[in-house]
Amino acid sequence: MIEIRNRLLYINNSPFVVRGGELQNSSMSSAAHMRPIWKSLSDSNLNTVLGAVTWEQIEPEEGNFDFKELDACIRDARAAGLKLVLLWFGAFKNGMSSYAPSWVKSNPHRFPRVVVKRPDGKLRFTEVLSILSGDETKDADSIAFAKLMSHIRRIDEKHCTVIMVQCENEVGLLSDSIDRSSMAEEQFQSAVPEDLLNFLREDWNSLHPLFKEKFSKPSVTSNGGNWEQVFGESPFTNELFMAYHYAKYVDHVALSGRKEYNIPIYTNVWQNQYGKQGAAAGGGKPGEYPSGGAIGGVLDIWMRFAPTLDFISPDIYVNDYDERCQWYSHKNQPLFIPEQRRDEYGARRMWRAIGEYKAIGACPFGIDSLEYDTWKKHYKLLKEVEPLLIDAYKNDHPMTGFFFDEFNSKAPADVIHHNFPKYRVTIERSRVFGVPDVGYGIIINYSPDSFVLVGTGFQVTLTAADNQLQAGIAKVQEIYFENENLRTLRWMNGDETQSGACIMMPSEKIDYGDFPVAISIPAGSKMAIAHAYTIPSYEG
Ligand code: DGJ
Repeated sequence: MIEIRNRLLYINNSPFVVRGGELQNSSMSSAAHMRPIWKSLSDSNLNTVLGAVTWEQIEPEEGNFDFKELDACIRDARAAGLKLVLLWFGAFKNGMSSYAPSWVKSNPHRFPRVVVKRPDGKLRFTEVLSILSGDETKDADSIAFAKLMSHIRRIDEKHCTVIMVQCENEVGLLSDSIDRSSMAEEQFQSAVPEDLLNFLREDWNSLHPLFKEKFSKPSVTSNGGNWEQVFGESPFTNELFMAYHYAKYVDHVALSGRKEYNIPIYTNVWQNQYGKQGAAAGGGKPGEYPSGGAIGGVLDIWMRFAPTLDFISPDIYVNDYDERCQWYSHKNQPLFIPEQRRDEYGARRMWRAIGEYKAIGACPFGIDSLEYDTWKKHYKLLKEVEPLLIDAYKNDHPMTGFFFDEFNSKAPADVIHHNFPKYRVTIERSRVFGVPDVGYGIIINYSPDSFVLVGTGFQVTLTAADNQLQAGIAKVQEIYFENENLRTLRWMNGDETQSGACIMMPSEKIDYGDFPVAISIPAGSKMAIAHAYTIPSYEG
């Protein structure tokens, strides 16, 4: 059984931390192409691979399903000891409909297209399927998704190789904020549905602040008003209209799959970012990013009108990482990041997601076209500390996660403060001579006076939360796992704790600068246990 409990993923009652990576879009269309790749991925310490299953490939003719390549991929991934998250590229992929089979694409009469307004003001058809022009697209997409889910159940239920499914990919409308086809227009001019008005009124206090920045609470007299009458004329009203309908669409597809096989289903979201626009991320206005996708301002709409989804995930490439982790932890949603940057910059942030937000996983995109060393190293450490993490999850130990990017002498000093029940900790870059290095890590407060520290390039000082008390460090030990048993490697003191002043997790590369004395040491196991104590503070 695979399920989400208390924001975590469980497989057969054991918590599962995803060490994942997403394949390039076309990789999993071919078992032969993937055959040599699975082992390199598991050798690189991944335990999970995210790969696409496309509508065009599994249903090339209406009603004729072909799962040959998928079955071989599932078998080969399983043989390599990997789990899979399957990405349903159905009617929508990055706001487009390029993965619809040709029998759908070539029949716009049955599967109507979105109409958008061009910059010159003229209307034009797009290649994107309309969710507002009848039910044919939704029904066909749902039938295919349900077939996929019942097939996975049949071939995989007893193995649990497929652990989650993503329904569609980054839905929303690009190039305009709203579908301007005649049927869409008719709905936009009709009364705002009562389920939406009631939800906004009843849940107003718990709505994400980004929604309340744009709209006011609908008054009781607004019943019967159309979208612009109730919410005003703006691209954000258009976005709200699209979000309501996309959420219902995705829910319908997801539910048809859930009825066949009950494993976690989520959808992912292209993130907006003012001033940054690229082919695959960013954009400041609805339509520059996919309008109606579940970005922060309309996240509540999605959570309410797509209840089948276990959670909604951000793809974080160009945004403030922490801000988006916070958005998607809204109302205690589980956090899973299916796509993020695959460089060191991205890998360092995985520790923030896991340590601070208990993320199910934070996965680099394009893992199969990358030299694996970056993630191999990070995932080796994550794999080693997994028993400690799981223990922390089970016992609800307080934790934090953090990172330091390349040092920039012009940027304000980066110092992180975190409050644990008995101690306030201050986390800084580990102090070396010369240029400070990057860093990342997590700290688990596993008993009131004890901490597990994981990572590199940082140092920690403690003060007592109670200001009648004074804190000190009793001892620090570098630790490691030997056959799943935790062992002490070194007792750290002297230069390695700045004479008892702090717990140091040394940098990977040390920089002596121009100082001739050897004091700094390079990172060892990247795991330590520290015990602290408090005594009454002295008042002279
Ligand atoms: C986001 C999409 O969800 C992925 O499928 C892929 O197209 C990446 N962008 C490319 O950066």
